[in-house]
Amino acid sequence: MLKGKKILIGVTGGISAYKIPLLIRLLKKEGAEVQVVITKAAADFVTPLTLSTLSQNPVYSDFFLKSDGTWISHIDLGRWADIILIAPVTATTLGKMAHGIADNLLVATYLAARCPVLFAPAMDMDMFLHPSTQANIARLKEYGHFYIEPETGYLASGLTGPGRLKEPADLFDVIIKFINKPKDFQGLKVLVTAGPTLEPIDPVRFIGNRSSGRMGYAIADEIAGRGAVVDLVSGPVNVAAGHHEIHVHRVETASEMFDKTIALSGSADIIIMAAAVADYTPADYSPQKIKKEGGNLSLNLKKTRDILMELGKNKRNNQTLIGFALETDDGTENAGKKLAEKNLDFIVLNSLTDKGAGFESSTNKITILRKNGEALRFELKDKKEVARDIADNAIIFHKKRLT
Ligand code: CTP
Repeated sequence: MLKGKKILIGVTGGISAYKIPLLIRLLKKEGAEVQVVITKAAADFVTPLTLSTLSQNPVYSDFFLKSDGTWISHIDLGRWADIILIAPVTATTLGKMAHGIADNLLVATYLAARCPVLFAPAMDMDMFLHPSTQANIARLKEYGHFYIEPETGYLASGLTGPGRLKEPADLFDVIIKFINKPKDFQGLKVLVTAGPTLEPIDPVRFIGNRSSGRMGYAIADEIAGRGAVVDLVSGPVNVAAGHHEIHVHRVETASEMFDKTIALSGSADIIIMAAAVADYTPADYSPQKIKKEGGNLSLNLKKTRDILMELGKNKRNNQTLIGFALETDDGTENAGKKLAEKNLDFIVLNSLTDKGAGFESSTNKITILRKNGEALRFELKDKKEVARDIADNAIIFHKKRLT
């Protein structure tokens, strides 16, 4: 399965480093070539002898003079690898990677590498949840690296929470899936929208909705990972894009999202409108903070322009247009109406009545309704897997249209 694949593993000084020898065995069994770079602290948790015996290669932790008098350098290692996995990554190494502090061979190799990088942080729960750690993870995701989320469970500190490195077999699965990911979006430009829009009432207040942006960002990550160049028009959210081929355009209001999306739509092969755009915005913005005077206050709202409707009107023959529908009742019927009215190729229906589906959850349950009346119903899944289902259907539809 991995014959001829060159995998460089970076190990840092965390207790879960003991899982890496088992991972190396699995990778070697499948025919991969494995080299290992460790930090000095990693050697306190797993011996270089074990790592070198299993990888059948020398293990490096410092810039090294070879027997022929040449240096083994970070450039050599970085160029050699098809992929780099850094696991476990401590909070210290995360910080160094995020800020380019190359004071050891591992971080220097990481900075010099041109291949995809996967990183798997593992540490105590409170360290993991600290804003500094989270900000470094977000930054590495923005560099386009693939984040392997730690699991929640019993930790070496005795606490229970997030921070555990995945088991060797699960890390192995992640690598296999990553390497075998199809590149079926290669050469395509995809426009994705995500998150809520916020409609200002006065300088301090707004009307918003509960969209987290996770679904749209997961779609952008999936599609960029499969070779597309992605423009992501995003409302205000707390998630980060996870691929260097995602160009994020930040907007706040429905009107700004309209302008940016329409401007980018001309060159897009596929458009996926996952944003929860406000349907109404205050008719009059008050430049001063509205004071609490008298009795009740009524807000006069006016309709926003429907971005998807506009995109549908101007859709090219070789452009695929996908919308979302969030319904609380009569889901299929309402989504079917939107599909027809907005001239879409398919619509993704989320029903708020399904437990675990919708806005603030990490899972979603969707139905894809096609123009020909067909309905594909999916199980409740993690939003990353839902993104894969949506991408699979988008590419099948788009390629069919072009033949
Ligand atoms: N949408 C849009 N512009 C708007 C409102 C919605 O592009 N001003 C898009 C959404 O991004 C989504 C689709 O239209 O892809 C359907 O959104 P939804 O809120 O479910 O439906 P609406 O058409 O707004 O109708 P309603 O709120 O009455 O259900």
